[in-house]
Amino acid sequence: MTATHDTARRDFASDNYAGVHPEVLAALAEANGGHEVAYGEDRWTARLQDVLRQQFGPTAFGYPVFNGTGANVLALQSMLPRWGAVICADSAHINTDENGAPERVGGLKLLTTPSPDGKLTPELVARQAWGWGDTHRAQPGVVSITQATELGTVYTPQEIRELADQAHGLGMRLHLDGSRLSNAAASLDAPLRALTTDVGVDLLSLGGTKNGLMMGEAVVVLDPDAVAGIDYLRKVDMQLASKMRFVSAQLVALFEGDLWRRSAAHANAMAARLRAGAESVEGVRITQPTQANAVFAALPPGVADRLREHRRFYDWNPATGEVRWMCAFDTTPHDVDEFVEALRGAVAAG
Ligand SMILES: Cc1ncc(COP(=O)(O)O)c(C=O)c1O
Repeated sequence: MTATHDTARRDFASDNYAGVHPEVLAALAEANGGHEVAYGEDRWTARLQDVLRQQFGPTAFGYPVFNGTGANVLALQSMLPRWGAVICADSAHINTDENGAPERVGGLKLLTTPSPDGKLTPELVARQAWGWGDTHRAQPGVVSITQATELGTVYTPQEIRELADQAHGLGMRLHLDGSRLSNAAASLDAPLRALTTDVGVDLLSLGGTKNGLMMGEAVVVLDPDAVAGIDYLRKVDMQLASKMRFVSAQLVALFEGDLWRRSAAHANAMAARLRAGAESVEGVRITQPTQANAVFAALPPGVADRLREHRRFYDWNPATGEVRWMCAFDTTPHDVDEFVEALRGAVAAG
């Protein structure tokens, strides 16, 4: 891939734009053929439970689902009553990019707080952690954080531990949207459980799609006492796959060995390369730390549109000229270097 500079198009819009990792495709082919019990009673889903216990500890139990929004809604719903509320950053995917699904489908209230880097702190949580017993206020029951965050930043294990301790001390639970947990763990060179089970996370939305699966995520219960009715809710939420073996086989391929880490570390390295290149272009201002596979930058007027003629990517804040560039498991150094040169050209053309 890297050596031949292949002609396949790769953009910087989203890690979702990438295809399926060849090892995942091979796992799908291997899972194919013959009949297998449906709805999760299959051999791949049983093997996935072993893999999840290895990665997250003996209490872990996973519920494979189709997508990340479904994982988040199912996770939050399983931890809260009808009158419950979730405290999250205003930039959280559950707040900005799920079309209100936690509210509409989950029936939950989101209590948001601004966060400059996408991370919550105990001080930010405290702004919304109040009002228990007040019938007029949705009752805060869960704090939800995203790792790596929507702004490409990464919580340290200690930061997560502090949030977990605060939540538990107030009778709440800690949910982690781990759509890019692999990128965070690769960035910190830490095992997955060091960012979850070991630091008090109760329930995890474990990402797969952004790290090379065709489709598939899992809700991973880390503290069984945190959830109620999750088996039934997965069906109610339309996330119960009949041919579950194919979702599970992909997750097994990703997490049984080190594919998750190899792929995420590569995507992170490409983001670091892109950041370094972009920083060398006069007039480009990097706006967030680059700790995972995302680069955020403010560009002079007109540059983003000129650069998009080369590769696709999204505006993050059109008012400030801020854009987001994402790298994936299949982004090559050549892709990055070409993109940086295109950026240099787009700036110079202004
Ligand atoms: C932080 C985060 N959580 C969850 C998701 C899952 O979204 P989807 O429902 O598109 O799989 C995404 C995807 O963009 C995300 O960035």
